[in-house]
Amino acid sequence: MNRIPTIIDCDPGIDDVMMLLLALRHEKTDVKLITTSAGNQTQDKVVSNALRFVSYINEKVEIARGLEKPFLRDLVIADHIHGESGIGGVELPEPSLEESDRTAIEAMLATLKETTEPVTIIATGPLTNVGALLLAHPEVKPKIKQISVMGGAVKGGNVTPQAEFNIYVDPEAAELVFNSGVPVVMSGLDVTHKAYLDDQDLARLKGKGTELAEMLHHMLQFYKDAQGASPFHESYYEEVVRLHDLCAAAYVIDPSLFQGDDFYAKVECEGRHTSGATVVDHMRQTGMDPNIHVLYGVDRERFVDLFLSSFDR
Ligand code: BDR
Ligand code: CA
Repeated sequence: MNRIPTIIDCDPGIDDVMMLLLALRHEKTDVKLITTSAGNQTQDKVVSNALRFVSYINEKVEIARGLEKPFLRDLVIADHIHGESGIGGVELPEPSLEESDRTAIEAMLATLKETTEPVTIIATGPLTNVGALLLAHPEVKPKIKQISVMGGAVKGGNVTPQAEFNIYVDPEAAELVFNSGVPVVMSGLDVTHKAYLDDQDLARLKGKGTELAEMLHHMLQFYKDAQGASPFHESYYEEVVRLHDLCAAAYVIDPSLFQGDDFYAKVECEGRHTSGATVVDHMRQTGMDPNIHVLYGVDRERFVDLFLSSFDR
């Protein structure tokens, strides 16, 4: 099987942890590098969480520290959702892996320069590192096959009424990535709110009976209790936990799980009430050519099966 050379840029983060498990264990994704973006927690905490979790599941991948803060703004974190540590109430053991002595940008650049086959980037935090890479080193664009982003929303945000968290934290970086000319796939809240685990799925996870399954079940319970939703979102009336970041990896592994289309989209970098909103021309009114692929539907049952299969690998 042809494995997909992959770089992951993430801010673990409870749902980032689920994404890491899937991407690191699935035979289709060949993860060459993990970089950390400041977002759900500070850079110190997300890099520590990545090192601890990847060590815990016995994977060996270079983990490189990303930028400390967004391009032009102060960092906003999501400790009200992911907790003080960034991974809920769970304590992970000291890591066996050590942080890379290269920065995220140096490591991404080197990985892209070395590759003979274009690399896929899965980005599940604010787009600060990916944006900085493309800004400083546009020559590597042909080495990137696509950037699968968890972020944005066509309708309704989760950190402000209009903005989704990852884009809200660093809209300038997101705007740069969306208009970079590199193929971008956006898993926004429109699809990620449909990508959830219900109580039966959580019971299936617990039923795996391993320490890892027990721990992730615990994290997800924490996440479920912290997640907000609105009546305009799918599954609002149900007791569920939404696996936003998993969508970005699941799409790379099996795009047939999702429905989506190409659209023209801009990121609002100003806006009195709308900073960080992704303005997607979903009714094709602007006459502008599409610049990104936006997902809006998911085959939830197959998505859940894919996630749960990570525990059997
Ligand atoms: C996104 O924000 C973060 O809190 C999650 O990890 C996910 O990447 C959802 O809006
Ligand atoms: Ca994330």
